[in-house]
Amino acid sequence: MKKEEISFEYQVFDDASSLMEADRSLLQKAKLATQTAYAPYSQFCVGATALLANGATVSGSNQENASSPAGLCAERVVLAAAAASYPGIVINTIAISYDNKRTSISDHPVAPCGICRQSLLETQLQQQTPIRLVLSGWEGNIFIINDVRHLLPLSFTAADME
Ligand code: THU
Repeated sequence: MKKEEISFEYQVFDDASSLMEADRSLLQKAKLATQTAYAPYSQFCVGATALLANGATVSGSNQENASSPAGLCAERVVLAAAAASYPGIVINTIAISYDNKRTSISDHPVAPCGICRQSLLETQLQQQTPIRLVLSGWEGNIFIINDVRHLLPLSFTAADME
């Protein structure tokens, strides 16, 4: 028997003023995108904006449904929107923010849910380029994660079926 350990590093910034301009601007767009969320059930409005290799940005937000499994997280909406609008163009960075309208407290970063991690990884593997994530609430700390693989260790991918 041997033991394995998996760990990863990510960056923590105190606030948006310490980010590089491209990330600050992307995060601002993600915050704006929270306004397009359809979240009547959770009141938890999430926005995500992708920066593509051609310089374009694409935004998405969560879209809920009375039948909750039919709802979509902002991350999967932005992945689909980017793929549909700019097929084949690499996504370099996705900024994700939220506005918790139920508590009015949006002061810490939230990370993508498990299904979204799987979807993000599929896109990353398809494009063969790491996707950076910029995670933040409306205020407070900002996390930067340089590779989606870090969020889904021991993942199941197409390679497992070969
Ligand atoms: N949600 C997202 O859009 N992204 C996340 O990373 C976490 C959760 C949405 C799903 C649902 O509409 C609401 O937030 C509450 O779970």
